[in-house]
Amino acid sequence: MSDSKSELKVTINQEIKTLMVGQDESLLDALRQASYFSVKSGCDTNSCGVCTVLVNGKPTKSCHIKALDVKGAEITTVEGLSKDGEMHPIQRAFLETGAIQCGFCTPAQILTVKSFLDRNPDPNEDEIRKAINNVICRCTGYVRGVAAVKRAAAYLRGETPEPYVHLEGVLPKDATRIDLPEAFYRREAEHLPLPPLVLTPAEMPLKAVVGQAETKVDGKKLAQGKPVFTSDIHMEGMLYGSLLTSPHANANIRDIDASKARALPGVHAVLTYQDIPRIKYATGGQSYPQPLPYDQVSLDNVVRHVGDRVAVVAAETLEIAEQALRLIEVDYEVLLAIIDPEEALKPGAPMVHAENDTEGIFDAKRNVVCHIEADYGNIEKGFKEADHVFEGEYHTPKQQHVHLEPHACISYLDEDDRLVLRTSTQVPFHVRRMVAPLIGMPVKKIRVIKPRIGGGFGNKQEMILEDLCAHLTLKTQRPVQMVYTRTQEFISSRSRHAMVIRYKIGIKGDRVSAAELNLIGDTGAYGCHALTVNMVGGFKGLTLYNPDNIRFNCDVVYTNTPPAGAFRGYGAMQCEYAIEVLMEEIAEKLGLDVVEFKRKNWIKVGDAMNLSKKLGEGREGVEQ
Ligand code: FES
Ligand code: FES
Repeated sequence: MSDSKSELKVTINQEIKTLMVGQDESLLDALRQASYFSVKSGCDTNSCGVCTVLVNGKPTKSCHIKALDVKGAEITTVEGLSKDGEMHPIQRAFLETGAIQCGFCTPAQILTVKSFLDRNPDPNEDEIRKAINNVICRCTGYVRGVAAVKRAAAYLRGETPEPYVHLEGVLPKDATRIDLPEAFYRREAEHLPLPPLVLTPAEMPLKAVVGQAETKVDGKKLAQGKPVFTSDIHMEGMLYGSLLTSPHANANIRDIDASKARALPGVHAVLTYQDIPRIKYATGGQSYPQPLPYDQVSLDNVVRHVGDRVAVVAAETLEIAEQALRLIEVDYEVLLAIIDPEEALKPGAPMVHAENDTEGIFDAKRNVVCHIEADYGNIEKGFKEADHVFEGEYHTPKQQHVHLEPHACISYLDEDDRLVLRTSTQVPFHVRRMVAPLIGMPVKKIRVIKPRIGGGFGNKQEMILEDLCAHLTLKTQRPVQMVYTRTQEFISSRSRHAMVIRYKIGIKGDRVSAAELNLIGDTGAYGCHALTVNMVGGFKGLTLYNPDNIRFNCDVVYTNTPPAGAFRGYGAMQCEYAIEVLMEEIAEKLGLDVVEFKRKNWIKVGDAMNLSKKLGEGREGVEQ
């Protein structure tokens, strides 16, 4: 890779610009370097489309094209669409239809739509769907996107579409059955998006704000591609951090030689386990006191999954940082790995945590990070008195969140020598508290800024990069930015817990009279959200049908796989999926109507939740 920069003359948003770009620099990097921050990066595989700009009017993935290859071209970014602060009709339509959630994909969607409507001013739905197909949206989906394009097309044809209004309804006191407004059933236009529906309790007087639908208050800046996300800034003297990860699922690091990496011009710091204090912590962003175990350190001499942290570098450019990573020599003692949670429980299985300085693992020899038991009523009696007993076993896999904005963090010291972490997190206050002991600073000297985040879905309810970034800033006294690659999101962030779910259900007449759940949760290499997610899974999975006799028995198990964490639904998805499948199987076997059978048995408004006192979120719960 050559360091030399060349002049690139292009027209960007109708202004002639001269950029200095590297020989291999992508158009994406060149545009962001020139502060066109609406252009996003979401992958390293030419797949997501959030980097789309218009090159001579054509949607083009800017990550996949060299900047020097667009010499003389006309480039449009979303910054060029608004005039005098007024939104372009396409931006207005996206905002009005609620087609923007996190907004990370929005600039690319809007540009794609612009190019499409320039060519096809009156498209049908199939044409619209094909047109927006190349930009992935992880939050909003596409139903509202299609509505936005139709609305934008109408605006651009000079028509005045109907105001996009919400539907109003009254929430009845007995909320077991809610009659929705007729339009909400979409009987005639199946593909129209559901209009926003505001249900107000009968006794609540309508207020100016409460009970009213509201256009997304921060939608305009997202539609305009303003620099609202963590890495949408340049800081004077900022260094780029990069992480070396383990290629092995289980290994001891016998030695690391980072001397060649440190000697590389442009490298300012290389940190390994030899360079920072060994302070135990847990990465799950949870209230103090965090559930044990504290089974991690910022950098360890053991790696427990492919993608585990090995070393971290800060350098003048990302390219130099990555080059430095390749110069780090690691001597691994590769060990047998265990990747199946049921195998991990067997005698003689490799121990994922054999270290002696982690407290609070339930049974380290059996790889059980935590064990949960709870019951209600008399389960034996419940099964004995049942007319039928059914059993089902279900396996659910890991699943990645795939928020389009990767984890990103910028750390720096402010004018009062406070450490500032500008980070893409869902838990800024937890991060502040959790990072303090790791870097030896009091909490009051740490400030965490959470800008807009481009999706998180639970994966940013965890401290993933902040401690490493902070260590690099303290070492170099310079701002440092770290951003995960998409590959790192899969192997070095978190996932939904894989589970082995075994239900036993007793039926008396057409009632669920007893339910037992034996659960094995796979937390991967670290405990993170092991206790809380699996406890919630048991609670929700046994409360949906809330019988009088219940037993929950759960082992959460370490494996040499990337750690699991929080994910939308927080354990409920897996256990509720399994019981719903089993309930359908039972109805079929007993010749019952599935919906009626479920309706008779599901928990009703006002019912006490039988396990609510025993199963809270990582601790005892309360009566509900
Ligand atoms: S396709 Fe360009 S960043 Fe994903
Ligand atoms: S709004 Fe599309 S990815 Fe978040």
